[in-house]
Amino acid sequence: MKPALTILAALAVTFAFLAAGCGGGNTAPSNRGKKADDKLSRPEVPTEYRDLAMPAGISAEEGKKQFLADCASCHGEGGLGDGPVGKALVPPAGNLTDPRLHEAVGDDYFFWRISEGGAFAPFNSGMTPFKNKSEEQRWQLVAFIRTLKK
Ligand code: HEC
Repeated sequence: MKPALTILAALAVTFAFLAAGCGGGNTAPSNRGKKADDKLSRPEVPTEYRDLAMPAGISAEEGKKQFLADCASCHGEGGLGDGPVGKALVPPAGNLTDPRLHEAVGDDYFFWRISEGGAFAPFNSGMTPFKNKSEEQRWQLVAFIRTLKK
């Protein structure tokens, strides 16, 4: 940013802050921006996967074994997105512990993403598809990911 623009931006931020009564009103522009930041949005689950629900008796422990073997290189052992391969990807492997993600999506979203990966819009990512795993194995992974929520 050019210096003049930086000063303008600083003035705008100061003004927005004052106008919001130091952060009181929810309708002030500065707060609207913050609110959007606090929420994650994800694309709608396609009909093929929408509303699929976790079957009974799925083992998160089995999911953990698979995660360490097949996912940790990108997502990191704890799901933080800090695996050696995942860090270098563009976009990077996201943080699967983020509570905002867990609140934003259903199990059907995780099952979809694990099945189909990310080599299509809007993701266009290196997320590997795991359709070669059985449905039970994919649900085990979903169950394990749910335990990662911070
Ligand atoms: C080669 C690296 C790589 C591997 C291996 C990998 N992923 Fe990913 N994954 C990514 C990247 C990069 C993203 C972020 C971009 C995206 O959403 O497609 C991602 C995204 C995801 C998402 C969506 C997260 C969100 O914020 O919407 C889920 C769920 C996921 N991965 C689960 C898994 C599971 C489970 C495994 C193992 C069975 C796995 N991934 C293996 C790279 C990988």
